[in-house]
Amino acid sequence: MDNNIYSKVDEYITQTCIQESDILKGIQKNNIAKGLPEIHVSPVQGKLLHVLAKSCGAKKILEIGTLGGYSTIWLATALPEDGHLITIEADKGYAHIACSNFKNAGLQKVIELKEGNAIEILPDLVSEAPFDMVFIDADKPPYKEYFDWAVKLSRGGSIIVADNVIREGNVLDENSTDEKVKGVQRLIASLQDNKLVTATIIQTVGTKEHDGMVIAVVN
Ligand code: SAH
Ligand code: DHB
Ligand code: MG
Repeated sequence: MDNNIYSKVDEYITQTCIQESDILKGIQKNNIAKGLPEIHVSPVQGKLLHVLAKSCGAKKILEIGTLGGYSTIWLATALPEDGHLITIEADKGYAHIACSNFKNAGLQKVIELKEGNAIEILPDLVSEAPFDMVFIDADKPPYKEYFDWAVKLSRGGSIIVADNVIREGNVLDENSTDEKVKGVQRLIASLQDNKLVTATIIQTVGTKEHDGMVIAVVN
């Protein structure tokens, strides 16, 4: 089967129903020009985050892993005027680029970037909770810990999404020594008897490699 069909269909979806704004397109270009790794969500995935944020009436969103802020802006533009988004980024250079992107998008009042290691910053966010939606997209080894924090910082009905949990099917390899694979396997195993959430995983294909996202609602 022609795997390229997935990219072609992804592009078709992008052109027909994603309505990627000039701001988002500009940010993509700027991020590539600045040499950021091209590991941001695709336009179709960004729109999915936007749809989920709207569907839960999100006023407060938490994102773990900003990079240049492409997914951040998809999420922030789903918020009402008085909405607020906190995004956490460990890399100083990426954080700087993201902040200038937020300013250019006129979203500097909506988006607050916290620079540092997420696992150290998350406990400080208890005073800001509950968040209506959490998007987990930073380093993969502590994904279970990030997910547990996301639940702690949420309310019943909050949506939690975790990116990159299928990893081209490598998640199936029980003997994997890849720390990223082991990290997402540990999260997925913990979901099996997690009574605090109702969760599923969708596998995704398209312009990014075969991957997937956990999508959960807090009970
Ligand atoms: N959400 C972005 C992509 C994020 S890529 C988008 O789709 O547009 C993952 C990001 O997580 C990288 O920028 C990386 O620097 C950051 N990161 C890695 N480890 C981290 C940690 N421990 N704490 C916070 N951010 C981290
Ligand atoms: C990587 C990280 C991501 O969040 C992603 O969506 C794709 C790749 C990475 O670290 O390689
Ligand atoms: Mg990702």
